[in-house]
Amino acid sequence: MDNNAFRKYAHEFADWMADYLEQVENLPVKAQAEPGDIYRQIPEKAPVKSESMAEIFIDFMNIIVPGMTHWQSPNFFAYFPANSSYPSILAEMLTATLGAQCMKWETSPAAAELEEKMMNWLKDMTGLPGHFQGVIQDSASTATLVAILNAREKLSEFQVNDKGMKWFDNFRVYCSTETHSSIEKAVKIGGIGRQNLVKIGVDDQFRLDPRLLNLSIEADLKVGNKPVCVVATLGTTGATAIDPLDEIAAICSRYGIWLHVDAAFAGSALILPELRWMIKGVEHADSFVFNPHKWLFTNFDCSAYFVRDKYSLIRTLQVIPEYLRTQDLGKVNDYCDWGVPLGRRFRALKLWFVLRSFGTETLQEKLRYHIRMAKELAERIEQDDEFELMAPVTLSLVCFRYKPKGIEDETALNEINEKLLKKINDTGQIYLSHTKLNRKYVLRMLIGQTNVEQRHVDQAWKLIRVLSSEF
Ligand SMILES: Cc1ncc(COP(=O)(O)O)c(C=O)c1O
Repeated sequence: MDNNAFRKYAHEFADWMADYLEQVENLPVKAQAEPGDIYRQIPEKAPVKSESMAEIFIDFMNIIVPGMTHWQSPNFFAYFPANSSYPSILAEMLTATLGAQCMKWETSPAAAELEEKMMNWLKDMTGLPGHFQGVIQDSASTATLVAILNAREKLSEFQVNDKGMKWFDNFRVYCSTETHSSIEKAVKIGGIGRQNLVKIGVDDQFRLDPRLLNLSIEADLKVGNKPVCVVATLGTTGATAIDPLDEIAAICSRYGIWLHVDAAFAGSALILPELRWMIKGVEHADSFVFNPHKWLFTNFDCSAYFVRDKYSLIRTLQVIPEYLRTQDLGKVNDYCDWGVPLGRRFRALKLWFVLRSFGTETLQEKLRYHIRMAKELAERIEQDDEFELMAPVTLSLVCFRYKPKGIEDETALNEINEKLLKKINDTGQIYLSHTKLNRKYVLRMLIGQTNVEQRHVDQAWKLIRVLSSEF
């Protein structure tokens, strides 16, 4: 492909992109594919001869698009969103064009310095403490892994990095029973061992119970175990419960335990001053992560990770072979030393475009609109005697189940709701997900997609009621 052909296709693709985003709400939101459907359509071997872009694009339209679940559809209510937006997509096009590796300051100075500034903007917008220093990670999972590695190194005085875990086999990490699976993954990768992840019970609103946390830590200390890290969640995946950060922080301070805050979804809501109660006590945290790629209209991947002590983070992860020794070493931020991979995408660019193009006020309006729609839906559910609200609506996630009159048996209710979810998602009109809360099968409807409006929520609720009445 030469530059002229590239220009021609870039224009054509831009038209396709605009058409797609205009019409995406009319496509089946959940891919209506069976396992193997797409795989079968792709040739067994890579082509030996060049194929034309026209042919490749036809296959994209015919094979790939129908096999996609459309996360940018306003009828997407499943999971936490992976929101995109026009300014973010435009920036991603530029990022791909620059094609830069942003591992060290020297390899892309603008990327490193924009990243530093964007993290400061986010810190200011969300009310996070001024002493935090930020870096963009690919995901909250990576950020949490890095936090656990850093906590492990701090407690072992950086000896695990040198000697391995041989002498440190009784480290303990604490989180609630509602915590995201990425914590367990991090504990496994970090060599702490899954058996040393202590899952603390929650209260009736699915928040970690600090009293139980305290008891667990004390019991561990008595038998010589070493508490290394507590993970508090703001916005649990199941029910967006907000763990009581200030009480957890007090416990961590008392025992000198690393406090990591996982606010993957809920963190974006901190741009709303009325929700800053969630971070009372955050000044005592050692690390904090939230994902602009979830609820701040910035394409995946963009995870904002903040730490209290950047030197401790760098000491945990830095390795400098000769070929990476640059002249400004130590004077600038070489972000490859703040995370796991060496190579890094230019992620700050899309964040810059989004924050400038929307402006804080519009971002706030959008989040408030989502939260308002969720709370109104919750009211409708509460007023309907065939449906049951299963958790408080703290942000924009509504957890509910169908509970037809006369059916009290929990197993039967679980089965009905599982069937209802399948029926809803098979229509292709909307897409919901599920979880279990107190062993009860619960439908999760997250109202937070970039372009979701009241009419989409109204249509979704109408469809759910119609389909449930067929049982
Ligand atoms: C509370 C919480 N933490 C962590 C994650 C993992 O996020 P990521 O996909 O960025 O690793 C999620 C994902 O939804 C989450 O809900």
